[in-house]
Amino acid sequence: MKKILVTRKLLQSNEDRLKTLYDIRLNSNDELYSQKKLIELSKDCDGILSALTDKLDADTIDKLPKSVKILSNFAVGFGNIDLEAANKRNIAVTNTPEVLTDATAEIGILLILGACRRAAEGIKSAQASDWKWSADYLIGKQLTGTRLGILGMGRIGKKISKIAKSLGMVIHYHNRSKLSPEKEDGAIYHKKLASLLSVSDVLSVCCPASKETVNIINKETLEYLPKGAVVTNVARGDIVDDEALIDALDRRKVYAVGLDVYKGEPILNPGYLKHKSAFILPHLGSATKETRTAMANLAIDNLEEFFKTGKCKNKVN
Ligand code: DGY
Repeated sequence: MKKILVTRKLLQSNEDRLKTLYDIRLNSNDELYSQKKLIELSKDCDGILSALTDKLDADTIDKLPKSVKILSNFAVGFGNIDLEAANKRNIAVTNTPEVLTDATAEIGILLILGACRRAAEGIKSAQASDWKWSADYLIGKQLTGTRLGILGMGRIGKKISKIAKSLGMVIHYHNRSKLSPEKEDGAIYHKKLASLLSVSDVLSVCCPASKETVNIINKETLEYLPKGAVVTNVARGDIVDDEALIDALDRRKVYAVGLDVYKGEPILNPGYLKHKSAFILPHLGSATKETRTAMANLAIDNLEEFFKTGKCKNKVN
């Protein structure tokens, strides 16, 4: 029986399934393993079912036991894993696409609505009973007719644009390549990021974190946005230079932000906390029972496929 290290606690039904398939090393206290501990615990394991909280950098991957042949990441994003290092060690890396598209897109829309309609301020005032209705109370930005810029029109970007369109937003996007008219579904392509940003009344960051996208929302690129734009991020914190975004909020270049993901999670840059207009969530993108169950099942399917065939359709390296 193959031996698998499962680095984070999963939902019960997923752990039950794993028990029937593998000799598993579970993390019943859901402790955040240090890199050292993760290496120790993976002794004799054939694979690791990892999570986005595991920093599988080059040094950690180098030190993994020779027996480890697969890192099945319980996430669509795999920015936590150094793919080059995994390639050097001939370790397969897999992810969980598709099953979390809808849940993550829902949070993407919540970020847009929350930031535009001043939900953070509204919640605080309602909780403190510190408000009175008036014609100009907490006036926000209406979405109808505004331009939504999607940075990264993959599955999640497409789903966000579909919902946003139904709210009356006009969709623009930037990708490495233009989509077919059918996939674009009326969205307007921008070959250059600067061009997309210049028409983004609201920006939704949906692209994967990679060497090319780290900090692409920065001091220079933020300047392309229209004054008073709204910036939202449902993808990865690494894509945004926090200091630059906070400075843009300070200067009112950016009206509000809606964030679900952060550099160095779970610690947030304190600059966000002082802004009333920051609508912030604790990485809830895929957090529904259906989706988390499906993600873990897919991570298990990936292990199964890999051990049976030596290949996996969700291999990313
Ligand atoms: C992912 O799968 O990358 C999501 O961010 C998890 O919530």
